[in-house]
Amino acid sequence: MSSKKIGVIGAGKLGLTLAQLGVQAGYEVMIACSRPPEAIALTVDVLAPGAKAVDTASLISANDVLILALPLSKFRNLLQLENVSFTDKLVIDAMNYWWEVDGKENAFSNGADSYSEKVQQLLPTAKVVKAFNHMGYHDLADEARAKGVPKRKAIAYAGDDEWALERVRELIESFGFDALPIGYLAEGVKLEPGSPLFGANLEKEAFLTIFNQLG
Ligand SMILES: NC(=O)c1ccc[n+]([C@@H]2O[C@H](COP(=O)([O-])OP(=O)(O)OC[C@H]3O[C@@H](n4cnc5c(N)ncnc54)[C@H](OP(=O)(O)O)[C@@H]3O)[C@@H](O)[C@H]2O)c1
Repeated sequence: MSSKKIGVIGAGKLGLTLAQLGVQAGYEVMIACSRPPEAIALTVDVLAPGAKAVDTASLISANDVLILALPLSKFRNLLQLENVSFTDKLVIDAMNYWWEVDGKENAFSNGADSYSEKVQQLLPTAKVVKAFNHMGYHDLADEARAKGVPKRKAIAYAGDDEWALERVRELIESFGFDALPIGYLAEGVKLEPGSPLFGANLEKEAFLTIFNQLG
């Protein structure tokens, strides 16, 4: 990617894993949660050494590429932050609805749309791409492999903007996975909980075999 900087919002299991992969891939990585940076600094030092804990508003301002790795039910809190703009940001949505975390009432869903389409509607001036949501964090940590090494696993991604898709392809490849475009953002529903591809930790061909059966 051109800027070599990413900001990860959410410093839990997924966020720390992606931050670690980002540092390993040579990115300057910032990471934030809803608490002050001091509250996560030690955890970040241990689990994603090289990443920098900052507050969420500073992270959004400082980065053109953001990864959403927070609970879906907390996403709207980002819209309440003061002096923060998502305009022209590339927003990589890795969030899923998970009732144990997000509550039995899925207040985020508006019916037919994928969650990432909803995120795009709420961030109309950003470019949203869905990626990194279908693989568990432990698999992400275990399966990252250098380019050319056999048995690389696939990370599928979906989006509507060609420029943004190309940036995300580069990022996925640099993190150690085969980047697998599956189409427009609406197609991302095929990666969400309830789909046979949710949880997929598969090589490209095996992934596509299932994907092509979904219609
Ligand atoms: N775990 C996985 O293997 C996995 C894989 C793919 C996708 N996902 C998705 O990734 C998201 C995160 O999952 P997780 O397992 O990493 O959850 P987690 O371990 O509970 O971490 C969630 C993180 O989000 C932070 N957070 C909560 N509210 C926030 C806010 N308003 N602003 C900024 N940060 C906030 C939390 O910190 P504070 O509460 O301190 O703010 C915490 O650091 C979910 O949507 C999940 O479905 C998870």
